[in-house]
Amino acid sequence: MRQITLAIALLSAFGCKNNTPSFDPAAGGADERAAPAMDHDRDDDRPRRFRLSEGRHIFRFDTFGDEDFWGGTLLLHQAIEGSAHGGVGAGVSPKTALTVGLKVDVDALSKATVDALKARKVNLDDPAVTVALLTSNAVVGVTGFSDGKGGLRTLGIQCAFCHSTVDNSFAPGIGHRLDGWPNRDLNVGAIVNLSPDLSAVAALLGVTDSAVRQVLKSWGPGKFDAELFLDGKAFRDDGKSAATLIPAAFGLAGVNLHTYTGWGSIPYWNAFVAILEMHGKGNFYDPRLDDKIKFPVAARAGSGHVKADPDLVTSKLAALHDYQLSLQAPRPPEDSFDEEAARRGQQVFAAKCAQCHVAPLYTEPGWNMHTGAEIGIDTFQADRSPDGHYRTTPLRGLFTREKGGFFHDGRFATLNAVVDHYDSALKLGLSAPQKSDLVEFLKSL
Ligand code: HEC
Ligand code: HEC
Repeated sequence: MRQITLAIALLSAFGCKNNTPSFDPAAGGADERAAPAMDHDRDDDRPRRFRLSEGRHIFRFDTFGDEDFWGGTLLLHQAIEGSAHGGVGAGVSPKTALTVGLKVDVDALSKATVDALKARKVNLDDPAVTVALLTSNAVVGVTGFSDGKGGLRTLGIQCAFCHSTVDNSFAPGIGHRLDGWPNRDLNVGAIVNLSPDLSAVAALLGVTDSAVRQVLKSWGPGKFDAELFLDGKAFRDDGKSAATLIPAAFGLAGVNLHTYTGWGSIPYWNAFVAILEMHGKGNFYDPRLDDKIKFPVAARAGSGHVKADPDLVTSKLAALHDYQLSLQAPRPPEDSFDEEAARRGQQVFAAKCAQCHVAPLYTEPGWNMHTGAEIGIDTFQADRSPDGHYRTTPLRGLFTREKGGFFHDGRFATLNAVVDHYDSALKLGLSAPQKSDLVEFLKSL
């Protein structure tokens, strides 16, 4: 009885507004409201500020209808609420949710909740609290849809799930949103593994349920494998996981090709992810995925020819693109690097690295792609992409992605290791002081 009372008290404390805040065009200001409302198929003449706030809303809150997969098929909401609230198992406490890297947006919490948290009056071991956070859109990138009885009807994810984190200003894992920063704490595999029913994923990949769980466990924090659902390759030849690090989604304006292996432009990849990875509902076209040798899973599933009615993705690509282009790379904190050394390191960089990492983009203007041999690494991940190349990573804001390491799979734990690698692979002949100056320069970007 006490338990129930507590849960109800919390639900009201969180406001339990349920559902995603709806996008309010009027919030953009009076001139935005003057945008032509008649021309339904054209939104490119709407004022830019309107599109930016619309794009931000999509990035943070739009599930593109993917709750039919994450809740409807995987039943993740049942694992989270637990049997006490109509689901299955023990449920997921806020403590556990934070442990697997989920973040809480402090700005979405009511004052009563913030006060209760400060006074340590919130039971962080109670799954009912997780449910309340999910239904009030306080968990970054995950929305729970209330069943009206203290439990969840379903649950969906957003771009922000992987590509936003928080500044930890309130407590570790709780703070203001930082859009575009990769969440390198997020254990996507462990979260998906909570699902009581992975048969749909097993059927797509043509493997057993336990094989799927094995793969999910192999990813670890900050990683996801977007290509698994195309080629079914979960492990490299050396037995390591084939997953890649979640990259930054900021600092991408002016950059030609995107993803570690240059699959396409930002809007190409956005449509790809929204439909093939998040399982949102929309149209997607890419005949490159018909290649039965390279992409057996995708070819079998027809992943390059997806049609959905209604299409909940295509109409959002323009605003989402605009918002992503507006996300600038953050500056490194003051005193996080040695300025003198960084200035010297800049000279080294200009001589040895800038033919590929061209300032101020720090990738090539033009076709920014290279073979594994050119950067001294194997071709496993490049071979899983249409062009068989690696894309030159834009380097600004490196400090936001130190956790998990560098290069697509985090094979280099530190920037020193990256520099040592280039020095030996490309026979640069760098001295020890040159190497440490170069590292200070990288930290300054
Ligand atoms: C489950 C985690 C996850 C979700 C959700 C997700 N992404 Fe990603 N994103 C990744 C990973 C991992 C990569 C790297 C993929 C690769 O190179 O194979 C990536 C790559 C990208 C890139 C390329 C970045 C670059 O350096 O060029 C962009 C842009 C991007 N995602 C945007 C989005 C958008 C927009 C959404 C929502 C529609 C989204 N992502 C949803 C994990 C995610
Ligand atoms: C031939 C082109 C080329 C040259 C020369 C080059 N890079 Fe790179 N760089 C790349 C590519 C391609 C990647 C992506 C590798 C991956 O993700 O596996 C990359 C990745 C990186 C990364 C990892 C970024 C991240 O977020 O994981 C760093 C740091 C870096 N380069 C620094 C340097 C430095 C320092 C030099 C000079 C010593 C240099 N690069 C020279 C093409 C180049």
